[in-house]
Amino acid sequence: DDPSGARVFNLDIKSGTTALKQGAETETWGVNGNFLGPTIRARRGEEIAFSVYNGLDEGTSIHWHGMHLPAVMDGGPHQEVEPGGDWTPQWTLNQPAATLWYHPHPHGRTAHHVYKGLAGMFIIDDEESEALPLPATYGVDDVPLIVQDRNFNGDNQFEDGGSFMSMQGILGDEIMVNGTLGPYFDVTTRLVRLRLLNGSVSRLYNFGFSDDRPFRLIATDGGLLPEPWETDRLQLSPGERAEIVVAFEPGETAVLRSHPAAEGYTGPLARVNGGDDLLDVCQFRAADALADETSVPDALGAAPDVDPAEAAQERSFSLSGFSQINGEAMDLARIDFGVQEGTVEVWEVTNADGYMHSFHVHDVQFRVLDVDGAEPPPQLLGWKDTVQLVPQRKYRLAMRFADYTDPNLPYMFHCHILAHEDSGMMGQFVVL
Ligand code: C2O
Ligand code: CU
Ligand code: CU
Repeated sequence: DDPSGARVFNLDIKSGTTALKQGAETETWGVNGNFLGPTIRARRGEEIAFSVYNGLDEGTSIHWHGMHLPAVMDGGPHQEVEPGGDWTPQWTLNQPAATLWYHPHPHGRTAHHVYKGLAGMFIIDDEESEALPLPATYGVDDVPLIVQDRNFNGDNQFEDGGSFMSMQGILGDEIMVNGTLGPYFDVTTRLVRLRLLNGSVSRLYNFGFSDDRPFRLIATDGGLLPEPWETDRLQLSPGERAEIVVAFEPGETAVLRSHPAAEGYTGPLARVNGGDDLLDVCQFRAADALADETSVPDALGAAPDVDPAEAAQERSFSLSGFSQINGEAMDLARIDFGVQEGTVEVWEVTNADGYMHSFHVHDVQFRVLDVDGAEPPPQLLGWKDTVQLVPQRKYRLAMRFADYTDPNLPYMFHCHILAHEDSGMMGQFVVL
């Protein structure tokens, strides 16, 4: 704690090596360790503070992806921390229980910093979610899965170089979960809640089990869905999260995989973001006897309550060409627009390309109103801060900007395919 009463978290960013494979150690970056970062967990209403120290020999930042907070605390490209420097953001958590994450956001170098290993989960709890009978014992039946892909070179180092698809970024052929190759999890309960994060720089995942068993989607980026959705496949583009609950039988083994993407990606297009790959993500090994004390209720969270009829402003965004939104590339010195605090806006976002994009807005959670004019699919019915844009489709998003104003410091909106973000598919807005 500190004198202001805030709970303080110390985050030391550093470089080191990690034994990921037989033979040479891999050069990695991490937070409070050599690779990836700790799960941060706090409650709605809590005052939290961070002491972020940059032990790298280049500038970086820590951005709280999905967080509603003042722009000066956002950790975007305007809050870079110098090598050897400190940064001490502080704010009051004021949003529903959700699975968020944190990662660097240095201008033009985000892909590299995430690929080296800077990323972690940020779990928010609240009273409403704790009152539900859902699996909720961390590491036992409530498990974070940071899913990432890497390429290794002959010396066991991360292969960072461009491929023939370098405009989409790196597409790794080895999957890591929480920084581990060939991961497995020992299941001790019938129901397990998995908090899935696509923490990859460019890969699309289509999650599903080896035997196509159904599972229930209970939460998306910004919190619990109004009701669970039973499915056997779930696509997540870079930056998106989902909480699913899956049931296991005593003594069985099941494998979570990424399957070829079902929808919107055919032919050569499927290859570009790995959408035609079949990959093992994590193996689940169930004990011979499983505890059975949790359940998934029919009613989970509140539906997103943003009314498009209240919209004070409508805006259109067209993403194309790997590096442009509305025909312009990001310029740190250009604020694209200002929004009025307390108002609702409707953003019409079009993927004008033949390639996948993943649209993310800082500071807010939004409601997806429609996709090409049709009702959104079930996985888009809850709060979102990042949405996969299928080529040539148009998404209407509604969001409310509340609480924090700053005429000078902007928030970002951008494509979360990090090579696109880095090459300029990003813009800036201020809340006035
Ligand atoms: Cu996950 Cu602007 O970032
Ligand atoms: Cu973000
Ligand atoms: Cu993109």
